[in-house]
Amino acid sequence: MTVTLRVGATDGAPGMVLRPWDDGDAAALIDAYRDPLLRRWTRVPVRDHAEAARWLAVRHKGWATEEYVSFVVEEEHGGEGHGGGRRLVANVAVKAPRNSTGVGEVGYWTVAAARGRGVASRAVDALTDWAFGTYGASGLHWLRLLHQVDNVASCRVAAKAGYDLDAVLPVRPPFPAPGHLHVRRRVTAGAAVRHG
Ligand SMILES: CC(C)(COP(=O)(O)OP(=O)(O)OC[C@H]1O[C@@H](n2cnc3c(N)ncnc32)[C@H](O)[C@@H]1OP(=O)(O)O)[C@@H](O)C(=O)NCCC(=O)NCCS
Repeated sequence: MTVTLRVGATDGAPGMVLRPWDDGDAAALIDAYRDPLLRRWTRVPVRDHAEAARWLAVRHKGWATEEYVSFVVEEEHGGEGHGGGRRLVANVAVKAPRNSTGVGEVGYWTVAAARGRGVASRAVDALTDWAFGTYGASGLHWLRLLHQVDNVASCRVAAKAGYDLDAVLPVRPPFPAPGHLHVRRRVTAGAAVRHG
């Protein structure tokens, strides 16, 4: 499946395009992972081309099986064409959109230089709408979003993307601090579909 999503510009931020990762993104991916904050909150490091190739292979397989659908987010800075006039600013993904329980999970990061202008929250919001629109008919009715309590920026992203705080989770290895579980439910005909 080849999917391209568009997110409109705001007063403070350009429009964005979300598309599946491709192998030509390796160098920008390695650059993004030089940021200590990104490395702190993600588990798989991307330090060189071999690690980037492995990271990208997981994304390609995820699309092939539709068990893990991830998008590179690019801001549009004028100009046309792939790479031309676009800058890689984030990664957003949905795990298990076709899970038999109907519950999937979102994940995301933003490159250091693009933080604080709504990139993650707007991209996660668009991703969520797309995921419910695409997989809702086959049962996806609930998306979860998990972060450690001390990841305050991630908590803000959750709130701004419409994910309500559902529970505070106790410490559980490999996570050294308690977590927040946020959820967003698929809305059908004006009513939220409830889990359980
Ligand atoms: C979390 C992350 C994705 C946010 O990306 P972003 O594009 O800056 O997100 P947004 O601009 O949509 O929103 C960020 C919000 O967090 C706030 N914020 C950022 N750093 C903060 C901090 N240290 N303390 C409190 N709030 C903070 C911003 O002010 C903003 O809130 P506001 O709009 O109310 O002002 C980004 O910081 C990141 O990539 N972190 C590392 C990876 C990560 O943590 N991923 C999520 C794992 S669960």
